[in-house]
Amino acid sequence: MSELLNITTRERICQIVLNRPEKKNALTLAMYAGLAAALLAADNDPQVRVIVLSSSGDSFCSGNDIADFIAAASRPGAVEAPLRFLQTIASLKKPLMAVVSGAAVGIGTTLLLHCDLVIASDQARFQLPFARLGLVPEGGSSLLLPQLVGHRRAFELLVMGDTFSAATAREMGLVNRVVMHSSLQDLAMLEAGKLAALAPEAVCQSKAMLRSYTQKQLDAVLVAEVKQFADRLQSAEAAEALQAFVEKREPDFSRF
Ligand code: COA
Repeated sequence: MSELLNITTRERICQIVLNRPEKKNALTLAMYAGLAAALLAADNDPQVRVIVLSSSGDSFCSGNDIADFIAAASRPGAVEAPLRFLQTIASLKKPLMAVVSGAAVGIGTTLLLHCDLVIASDQARFQLPFARLGLVPEGGSSLLLPQLVGHRRAFELLVMGDTFSAATAREMGLVNRVVMHSSLQDLAMLEAGKLAALAPEAVCQSKAMLRSYTQKQLDAVLVAEVKQFADRLQSAEAAEALQAFVEKREPDFSRF
C-alpha cells in the first residue's frame, strides 16, 4: 500500500499523496482502505493539525478503478471499502485540504465536497460521469451538490456529466482558489501552514459546527447511495458503459 499512498507528517501537516500516476490515480479497493486508515490515523494524531490530500503525476484522481467496478458487479460486498472511506472523510474532526492538479473524475470530484479547503491548478478538470456510466451519484453528492449549486445545476453535472474547468468549479464554490499550475504545491502548503498555525481547538470546533446540521442526513445518504450504486453496478447499462471504457469506445445504450 505504501507505494500507492505516500504519507508524511511535517510541521503539524499530514500530507497524503495518491501515487498511482500510470492509472491517473484511480482508486482501488486497497487504496480506499489505505486512505481510510491514513485519514483516521492523522485525525487521531496529536502532532497533526491539518490533513492535505494531493496526488503525483498529471491527474488528481480518475475516480474508482474501472476494473474494480467490473469485478464488483459479481461481488456486491466490494462497496464496503469505498463506504468506509467516505464515512471516514465525512466525519474527520481536523481540517482537510485537497490540492487538485489535473483530472478529478467521479469520486475524485465528490470527495472534494467533504474537504474544508480546495486549492486547484488552473489546469484542473472535473467530471461527474455517473449516469454516463450507467451509474448513480455517490460520495454524498446527491445531497451536497444540490445544496451547493441547486437542483438544475447538480442535475446537469451529475447526469449530463460534462467536464468542467477549475474556473467553473471555483465559481460554483467547489474550489476555494485556482492558482497557476507551477505554483500549486507551494501555495497550497502555504495555506496549510496558515491553517496549522491557528488555534487548533477553535478550528476543529468551527468545522464541527459547520457540519453539524447536515451530518446525520449525510450519514444516511452515504449508505443509501452506496446500496443503489451497488445495484447499478450489476445493471446491463453499467456493464455496457464499463466495457466500453475498457475497449476505448463510446457506450451504446440504444438497446435499453
Ligand atoms: N480506472 C482504471 N483505469 C483508469 C481509470 C480508471 N478510473 N482512469 C484512467 N485509467 C487508465 C486508462 O485505462 C489508461 O490505462 P492504459 O495506459 O493501460 O490504457 C491510463 O489510466 C491512462 O488513462 P488515459 O485515459 O489514457 O489518460 P488521459 O490523460 O487521456 O485521460 C482521464 C485521463 C482521467 C480523463 C481518463 O482516463 C478518464 O476519463 N478516466 C475514466 C474516469 C472515470 O470514468 N472514472 C469513474 C468515475 S465514476
